[in-house]
Amino acid sequence: MLVIFGASGDLTRRKLVPAIWHLQQQGRLPEQFALVGVARSEMSTDEFRQRMREALDEFVGASGEEVDRFLARINYVSGDPGDAEFYGRLGQQLQQLDDAFGTAGNRCFYCSVPPQVYLTIIEQIGIAGLNQEGQGKPGWVRIIVEKPFGHDLDTARALNQSIHAVFAEHQIFRIDHYLGKETVQNILVFRLANSMFEPLWNRRYVDHVQITAAETVGVEHRAGYYDSSGALRDMIQNHLLQVMCVVAMEPPSAFDAESVRLEKLKVLKAVRPISVGQVDRFAVRGQYAAGDYDGTAVQGYRQEEDVPANSRTETFAAIEFTLDNWRWQGVPFYVRTGKRMPHRASAITMQFKQAPHLIFAGGNDLRPSTLTIRIQPDEGIALSFSGKIPGPDVNLGTVEMDFNYQDAFGGRSPEAYETLLLDCLLGDGTLFADSGWIEKSWELLMPVLEAWNATSATRVPTYRAGTWGPREADDLFDRDWRAWACP
Ligand code: NDP
Ligand code: BG6
Repeated sequence: MLVIFGASGDLTRRKLVPAIWHLQQQGRLPEQFALVGVARSEMSTDEFRQRMREALDEFVGASGEEVDRFLARINYVSGDPGDAEFYGRLGQQLQQLDDAFGTAGNRCFYCSVPPQVYLTIIEQIGIAGLNQEGQGKPGWVRIIVEKPFGHDLDTARALNQSIHAVFAEHQIFRIDHYLGKETVQNILVFRLANSMFEPLWNRRYVDHVQITAAETVGVEHRAGYYDSSGALRDMIQNHLLQVMCVVAMEPPSAFDAESVRLEKLKVLKAVRPISVGQVDRFAVRGQYAAGDYDGTAVQGYRQEEDVPANSRTETFAAIEFTLDNWRWQGVPFYVRTGKRMPHRASAITMQFKQAPHLIFAGGNDLRPSTLTIRIQPDEGIALSFSGKIPGPDVNLGTVEMDFNYQDAFGGRSPEAYETLLLDCLLGDGTLFADSGWIEKSWELLMPVLEAWNATSATRVPTYRAGTWGPREADDLFDRDWRAWACP
């Protein structure tokens, strides 16, 4: 049974219920399944079902009898997660639903509420004894915690401690939806199911790696959350560091949660700490100013709804990470993200070293070979390399081999939330973050946050909306053959 706290919210209607719908359509949900929405909004189950009907129509385009059958598995319980007495009533209702749907006491609680409410829900679940599994109780109990997981190292540690007081680590599923993306899962397959790439995947052949997540949208209507977060917390601490770990990790001994998590943590442990004094050398931030996107004028971040006119929150962040280990010594990893950029594109670009000696006559614009993994959109992998342009002279040009998911496999790829929800129902934590990884990722970024928050650091570079970020981001590159790729 999936019990969603905050079920009246945006995430439930836009992502979670559509994901469960797709899982049912693919026959991946057990017969004995029920979804229970929980929130303070007063609503009957029928009213909640009607809202979910509209959500499925809007986000999936589904309607008709199949939707009716699906909605029959959905229920709603209204109550305040801050009210201890509510949990007694909730427990009784869940038991009744167990009887009706045959869910045998299995519970997956989902915290889809604002982050400041996670702890209250977790503590109250513990006090009410709804966390207990084993000891003669039927079924399993798990908890999914949304991002952001903490606001800094101290709050992330405190949240981990409080959760561990109620749930064992194997019961905790910390969501990072990037890990559920097909293209991110495919990185390990690409590396480890083919024998030809892994030998190149190291300091002997790779010059540097870039990981970019560029968005065209601005802050939208999320200033309440975003202005106290910023690009570093919102995207780098979680999504982009996870992607970096998947690219940089050693092959795990098995594809299971314990082995994969161990290797990813080792990557973070190999990252050379950036001290507060070094932040200006290794990290760049920016905030979008007015500009245009797709031929339309757009306002600057400080003019957006609910953003303070003197906000110093970064909407762009770029960091150079150095990994001190045998595989990656001397190979910088450049990670960047920004809102209001020219294209929506998340990609990994691995640039290979130049050939050690060129025997071909001059005049050639020889570019180093690159491997580009397009996470989204236009999902695929491209390898670009030099080739001879046909003709009597030896002139070289850059050519590309391209694998495109849509062309190769067709059909619809599962959304990240489908994969992650199913994994949680199956008890597979491979694609989720563990407590050690979360704390280490915060630890690495704390000096950057400290430097950027210092009152003396008043200037936040700006960039025109619709461009690739502040000019200062180019200064991260200290070799003249390196430059940001435009995915
Ligand atoms: P919402 O802000 O829409 O909140 C969800 C629900 O939580 C609300 O409908 C509200 O329901 C309930 N709620 C709000 N405040 C409180 C409170 N003080 N006490 C108890 N309940 C409260 O959030 P989203 O649905 O957008 O997101 C949920 C979580 O997922 C957040 O942590 C967010 O950071 C995360 N997330 C969301 C994404 C998205 O695409 N929306 C993407 C990535 C992460 P009611 O008033 O009925 O109780
Ligand atoms: C979320 C961030 O986690 O990821 C958003 O809070 C961001 O600010 C989003 O827009 C990006 O996700 P995706 O899947 O569109 O790249």
